[in-house]
Amino acid sequence: MQSPIDPKSKIQNPKLSRVLVAIGGGIAAYKVCELISTLFKTGVEVRVILTRSAQQFITPLTVATLSRHQAYTDDDFWQPTYSRPLHIELGEWADVMVIAPLTANTLAKLAYGMADNLLTNTVLASTCPVLLVPAMNTDMWEQLSVQRNWQQLSIDSRYHGMNTGSGLLACDRVGAGRMAEPPEILTYIQSLLHTQGKRDLIGKRVLVSAGGTREYLDPVRFIGNPSTGKMGLAIAQAALHRGARVTLVHTPANWQAPLGVQAIPVTSAEQMHQAMVEYLANADIIVMSAAVADVKPRDYSTEKLPKRSLPEALPLEPVPDIVARLAQLKQSHQILIGFAAQTGDIVNPALEKLEKKKLDAIVANPIDRADSGFGSDNNEAIFLDTQGRQVAIAPCSKLEMAHQLFDFINNEF
Ligand code: C5P
Repeated sequence: MQSPIDPKSKIQNPKLSRVLVAIGGGIAAYKVCELISTLFKTGVEVRVILTRSAQQFITPLTVATLSRHQAYTDDDFWQPTYSRPLHIELGEWADVMVIAPLTANTLAKLAYGMADNLLTNTVLASTCPVLLVPAMNTDMWEQLSVQRNWQQLSIDSRYHGMNTGSGLLACDRVGAGRMAEPPEILTYIQSLLHTQGKRDLIGKRVLVSAGGTREYLDPVRFIGNPSTGKMGLAIAQAALHRGARVTLVHTPANWQAPLGVQAIPVTSAEQMHQAMVEYLANADIIVMSAAVADVKPRDYSTEKLPKRSLPEALPLEPVPDIVARLAQLKQSHQILIGFAAQTGDIVNPALEKLEKKKLDAIVANPIDRADSGFGSDNNEAIFLDTQGRQVAIAPCSKLEMAHQLFDFINNEF
């Protein structure tokens, strides 16, 4: 049997992360194959446990091929060897453990601290954060006993529970109990690798704006910008994964707000302004990462305007400066963060905005460099605050940047 531990790997690459994926017996197991494949491609070391019933849906060969390592089953658990017990080795090896799909059966065992197979023994023989990703039929998920077990685990800070989605289930029911999608699970794992499971935003409410506003001239034309809202989405995800209650005010996007986030869709700067002011009172941290159009057409035509009339139809007027208005309305305990997307010198214009808009801190990010800024999955930035602190963040994923921002806020305020 191949040992899960390669003592050289962490020494050669100290940033290498180790994720132990435990697969339960549900049809959603097939989606976990995609998760394993993506984890491997992102440079994470992956080991996989399959319960006996998981093997009715996918085989050890499938996951071994995708993870480039032997997959472990209860047969390995009961193998007589002279090495250390497998559940101890796997438990010590993992930085993060993910149980997906989490079945009602495994959930019940975890709630009662039972240990009758490799998966449950490994959970009990380890201390790393455990991400629980339930998937089951709606009636099963909504059973009082299942919900009681779920609540029971939520009081243990070691367990991070992902919400289930709603939709068409494999049993042909449409309802709750659908497993979170692999990209969302992946993001949660990346968060846990960054935070090591700490929930430093528990009890906090975070209000985030994301995306570029659209200022319509007629039903088909608008003034806009290339913002995709990915930075705001990453901030919402990072806040959620650190325990905050999150409201995300966002413009039309090609992504879905994460399960568990209160999403408020808006289109124009005026609508974003109204929504941000409405949700401001309850927020502890407000991050205005949206790219708001600076101007809007003065008039709106309900009919599509003829092309020839466009040059005359475009008198413009300014839109409200939302973040400056929030700064006037906010209480002293609330932290307000703005963004400054800049070309060339990014520091001085950001310092000016920090002061002029009366923000607590600002994220200055370049939009004229390869693979950062609008539309990219990555970003680089300098965080500046009213205490004169300046922290440069090297190019990284937008999720990593979001976590760095919360680390910065938590250290400073
Ligand atoms: O003034 P400028 O657009 O460069 O400032 C950027 C910051 O101000 C960002 O946080 C952006 O979300 C916010 N902003 C705003 N309302 C506007 C324009 C920008 O809240 N009308």
